[in-house]
Amino acid sequence: EQIEKGGYDHFMLKEIYEQPRAILDTFRGRLRTNEAIIKMSGVEDNMKKFLNADRIIVVACGTSWHAGLVSEYIFEDLARIPVEVEYASEFRYRNPVITEKDLVIAISQSGETADTLAAIKLAKSKGAFVFGVCNVVGSSIARETDAGAYTHAGPEIGVASTKAFTTQITVLTLIALRLARAKGTISSSDYRHHLIELELIPSKVEKVLKSDDYVKTIANIYKDVKNFLYLGRGYNFPVALEGALKLKEISYIHAEGYPAAEMKHGPIALIDENMPIVVIATKKGHYDKVVSNIQEIKSRKGKIIGIVTEGDQQVKELADHVIEVPETLESLSPLVTTIPLQLLSYHIAVMLNKNVDQPRNLAKSVTVE
Ligand code: AGP
Repeated sequence: EQIEKGGYDHFMLKEIYEQPRAILDTFRGRLRTNEAIIKMSGVEDNMKKFLNADRIIVVACGTSWHAGLVSEYIFEDLARIPVEVEYASEFRYRNPVITEKDLVIAISQSGETADTLAAIKLAKSKGAFVFGVCNVVGSSIARETDAGAYTHAGPEIGVASTKAFTTQITVLTLIALRLARAKGTISSSDYRHHLIELELIPSKVEKVLKSDDYVKTIANIYKDVKNFLYLGRGYNFPVALEGALKLKEISYIHAEGYPAAEMKHGPIALIDENMPIVVIATKKGHYDKVVSNIQEIKSRKGKIIGIVTEGDQQVKELADHVIEVPETLESLSPLVTTIPLQLLSYHIAVMLNKNVDQPRNLAKSVTVE
């Protein structure tokens, strides 16, 4: 096992550090920046189904559901296709309206999640075309779907999903860009810009990983608190949810993710000097509005951990700590903002002596209801 961990203390840490390589492997051969094309056979072979779809319904669970939420922003923003993101467990029992004009995207790292599998079978029985985004080759979901794209993240052993999440977002971004190009909803310069920026993501993730020691010092300050709040807006709202889930899973600290603007509709009542709040406040994502949310937190004495764009000044002046991430397009920002949140939960869990790779009550794949 020590050998499999490749010198890291835990699989989770190894998998966090594998992300630059995993993301590269995900777009290798698919993203051809020089030719300005994206080629994914599962999409190309079924282009008509994608282009004729009235809407996309994403079905998934847990972290994969969070990746689905990120994709809602990308598909709607770039490809102008309406998207609904569903918990597979709710969708399958809701008697949902599904037609032959729906395109269902099922996202699953393991490809074995029972609820997601059942949602796929239901969608297929109603005539929808079902596309899978899986990591495990030959898994049940990969076999049950009509077509699909693998994430190529390599085996993920840690129960807390890390590289599966960022590679799922990568695949979904590639699909959205390909469709946007085919539909003409993106200009050729904007499209090229996205391809160039996407190609730079692995090196930017590498750079974020260099903040590991600093994240560790923050973990040490907050490791004994009972509650955490995570806030983000737009593309980074699902990242806030994912950050909170990571912390809950492996450190057993209660954490909630919220859209930053929803704070004033309830969670703001929780804020006092004992509440650390992780706020994703990168430059392009409604920056000014997030800054005013941060001011509201500060005036209530909450402890602010800001995830900011390199060189940021405004949040730095307000926050107790800031973790910088390299600038990228807003649509690609979840790929970099996620990393410090993974590291933060990892270090807190290690400091609390928790079983990071196999947290209590959790299984790597949930093959039963
Ligand atoms: C992630 O950290 C979790 N362990 C869990 O939420 C997981 O993402 C969920 O069970 C879905 O699994 P899947 O991607 O294999 O379908």
